Amino acid sequence: MKVLLVGATGLLGPEICRRLTAAGHQVRALVRPTSDRGKRTALTALGVELTEGDLTNPATLPRACGGVHAVISTASSTHSHGGGNSIESVDHHGQLALVDAARQAGVEHFVFVSFRENPRIQFPLTAAKRAVEQALKSSGMTYTIIQASYFMEVWLSPALGFDIANRKVRIYGDGTRPLSWVSYRDVARAAADAVSEPAARNLVIELGGPDALSPRDVVRMAEAAGAGPIVVENVPEPALEAQLNGATDLLQKSFAGLMLQYAGGDVIDPASAGRVFRFPRTSVRDYIATELSR
Ligand SMILES: NC(=O)c1ccc[n+]([C@@H]2O[C@H](COP(=O)([O-])OP(=O)(O)OC[C@H]3O[C@@H](n4cnc5c(N)ncnc54)[C@H](OP(=O)(O)O)[C@@H]3O)[C@@H](O)[C@H]2O)c1
Repeated sequence: MKVLLVGATGLLGPEICRRLTAAGHQVRALVRPTSDRGKRTALTALGVELTEGDLTNPATLPRACGGVHAVISTASSTHSHGGGNSIESVDHHGQLALVDAARQAGVEHFVFVSFRENPRIQFPLTAAKRAVEQALKSSGMTYTIIQASYFMEVWLSPALGFDIANRKVRIYGDGTRPLSWVSYRDVARAAADAVSEPAARNLVIELGGPDALSPRDVVRMAEAAGAGPIVVENVPEPALEAQLNGATDLLQKSFAGLMLQYAGGDVIDPASAGRVFRFPRTSVRDYIATELSR
């Protein structure tokens, strides 16, 4: 079947394209003129058809959606903020415009990569994700909404201050509450599988990893796996709350919200998504072993 991927040049996108093309699907990717050239070349090498467009320019979306059976969207402005790209213009209105364009083009199935919500912690990215989820549910298209947990390769990585190889980690909150860290590769696999998995139709799927671990559990696991004693810096929850309440920029506010939500913990029953996606999930233990062997 023919699938349009929006977000193909991000972290998840190339992995989704790889899986879709390996499964024999025809893939079209919406890319921007500014999208990374190396990533565009790699997509073309996989046999992916590139079409230029932009979520902030709804006029570019009907052509991209034309003749496709399914749309998968992973796009987000969080790493490409500025120059017209914002939570409002991309994650909120851009994604809504894509849902509308897909519906009008007769797309049958829309797979949306979303994230978890703690109803007590509201921020602009949550509002955007929930608005798109609602629009999808009432669009008449078959939907699959993947509410993914925190990606271990992002939130347990040096990019966010969690540097086990250099024995220094930053933890948001006191680090005692467990989270169901998930590998982005498993989220990508779920998104790709969803287009041909009957059990994924018209479903909101909470997707976490195989085990729920607190950040302190992860530190202990890394120490036991050979990292040696790790120095922990905590960002206290009140500081995160102050950041959430004080920020005027929507991205800053959203990032504070994400950190606060992490501090509060979030456990997902692996069995629920396991009924739809039967592949084994990457564990934090496996991830740590890979990180320490670099
Ligand atoms: N990180 C986590 O822990 C986590 C957890 C749960 C869910 N998620 C969700 O997972 C999804 C995918 O994440 P990711 O890490 O793959 O994201 P990413 O690496 O930031 O990639 C974002 C993608 O969106 C595209 N994009 C940005 N602005 C666009 C626009 N105006 N029009 C069209 N495309 C645009 C980017 O294209 P360019 O290359 O052109 O910029 C890129 O391909 C996101 O929706 C995120 O909310 C993340």
